[in-house]
Amino acid sequence: MSLPLAVLVSGSGSNLQAIIDRIEAGRIDARLTAVLSDKADAHGLVRAAKHGIPTRVLSPGGYPDRAAFDAALLAAVRESGAQAVVLAGFMRLLGKDFIAAYRDRILNIHPALLPSFPGLRAHGQAVDYGVAISGATVHFVDEKMDNGPIVIQAAVPALPDDDAKSLGARILTLEHRIYPQAVAWLAAGRLAIDGRRTRLAPSDAPLAAMPSPCLVNPPLEEGF
Ligand code: GRF
Repeated sequence: MSLPLAVLVSGSGSNLQAIIDRIEAGRIDARLTAVLSDKADAHGLVRAAKHGIPTRVLSPGGYPDRAAFDAALLAAVRESGAQAVVLAGFMRLLGKDFIAAYRDRILNIHPALLPSFPGLRAHGQAVDYGVAISGATVHFVDEKMDNGPIVIQAAVPALPDDDAKSLGARILTLEHRIYPQAVAWLAAGRLAIDGRRTRLAPSDAPLAAMPSPCLVNPPLEEGF
């Protein structure tokens, strides 16, 4: 049975789009039960509506405190029937009750090679530091920010003249490949958490062609 998934967005939703496209292409065995946003003007809501996915906005300002917002968000995700949650540019930290309710079933993507440059302004942090390689990380979500077990990472060169925008664009291209791949693995039940590590059950799927130079590990399978 397809995995029922809720996606949380705050902005453009290009990662959401990449996931929708791979679901529609039959590459991810999941169905999106809801796309929820904390921002009414998030373009991700428009993308979801275009594909007939139910959307909902929960504005933090409409709740007395963080705990009340978190409880409402959890209730909305549960009501949608989701059994797992994908954070796709959702710019808020989930509360501990939410994380406990969906423990080991929440994924996030961060545009840096964790544990480097967690938190906000990841591209700017990487450029300011002067790294020669950066990238993106998909990880399980736990109580600490950008901290849970890593599912997949992709590395790209950081060039001497990069600014946050140019580096971010290079990274985003790979986000759109590794995030759907991670969701596909989750939906297929191929991910197992083992302490800090995520173990990927092997398959005989052929591997995807990769542009050079770029390192992705575990390797992407054909179709991602
Ligand atoms: C991505 O860079 C992602 O890594 C970060 O937020 C951005 C979201 O972009 N968490 P989009 O909304 O998916 O286009």
